[in-house]
Amino acid sequence: MKIALLGMGTVGTGVYEIINEEKGNYFANAQEKVNIKKVLVRDKTKKRKLDVSEDLLTDSFDEILEDQEIEAVIFAMGGMEPEYSYMKDAMRNKKHVITANKAVVSEYLDTLLKLAEENNVMFLFEASVGGGIPIITSLKETLKINRIDEIKGILNGTSNFILSKMSSEGRDFDDVLKEAQELGFAEADPSADVDGFDVSRKLAILSSLAFGCHIKDEDIYKRGIREVSKSDMEMFDNLGYVLKYLAHSKMDDGKYCATVEPVLLSSKNIMSNVNEEFNIVSIHGNIIGELQFYGKGAGKNATANAVVGDLLYIINNSERRDDIILDKTVENKKLDIFQGK
Ligand code: NDP
Ligand code: HSE
Repeated sequence: MKIALLGMGTVGTGVYEIINEEKGNYFANAQEKVNIKKVLVRDKTKKRKLDVSEDLLTDSFDEILEDQEIEAVIFAMGGMEPEYSYMKDAMRNKKHVITANKAVVSEYLDTLLKLAEENNVMFLFEASVGGGIPIITSLKETLKINRIDEIKGILNGTSNFILSKMSSEGRDFDDVLKEAQELGFAEADPSADVDGFDVSRKLAILSSLAFGCHIKDEDIYKRGIREVSKSDMEMFDNLGYVLKYLAHSKMDDGKYCATVEPVLLSSKNIMSNVNEEFNIVSIHGNIIGELQFYGKGAGKNATANAVVGDLLYIINNSERRDDIILDKTVENKKLDIFQGK
């Protein structure tokens, strides 16, 4: 299969390395079947961490679109536009789309799924939530038979990295944010990480899949963590509490409520011990009961693993199509459901 990779930053580099360099178990066998034909970047002259042949690099998406041999396009760029338009164009040109972009997925999930169906291609987005945690596939496949009524968790690596380093190392917010940026965890505009938009987008995606309706980021109440100081963290620690940035959504009798906010947890709570860039997602379903997923929520390898996993899914299931249906009617109850709990 010939594919195109859009973006050669943190995620794109990881994907390129797995496909071209890693001799990992399964992929070593599949390697001959995958060939990255084009890599889209903004600036072809930029010095990169990885040596990519000049012939591969392009700054023209049309070149990729018009290439009939390219069957799948991996999106690792970031931002709403031109990514959303490119995704639609790729699918209209009968190319499968894989993306790590939660901003586009959360806003246009319904439209993009319909477009994939109309064009008989796949639209896969495992890397958009929880980095390397296979939560989307689990919701779409194994957990599909459940009626899910609650999702809770830590869904942003950068903010969790900041809070846990402020607590364990007594460092300042800005200092740790800078380190998270250097490590490639943060968004291009890190306000998405610390003001709640990145988490609410991820929670919107999970809630949409779990509850069977398109829940949007704007329906989610959010508070950021910018105001948290080193001395606040010290005080919480002395009192036996840990501050965590929690996403929480709940469905009750056709009504849902979703929030993103910093919450004080007892130090014995399992989520208190999720540190650095790690994420945790807890799902409650009527058959499975409570289920927890834990792993690296950001960073090159974890995210690239999720992206390449989607690619392998396409290779191995070329005749299969997703049947996600977001047609339930639900009511947004803002904070009512959580009150008193
Ligand atoms: P980076 O900023 O590291 O890389 C972005 C890449 O996209 C760069 O190579 C850039 O080109 C290219 N690019 C950006 N805009 C354009 C454009 N208009 N035309 C062509 N190329 C463009 O981002 P990340 O790799 O960190 O993130 C990529 C996506 O993955 C985002 O949607 C992010 O939210 C998501 N994601 C990131 C995770 C992480 O841990 N970093 C984890 C999960 C998801 P150039 O190099 O020339 O500037
Ligand atoms: N900026 C995001 C985070 C990347 O820190 O969680 C992973 O989605």
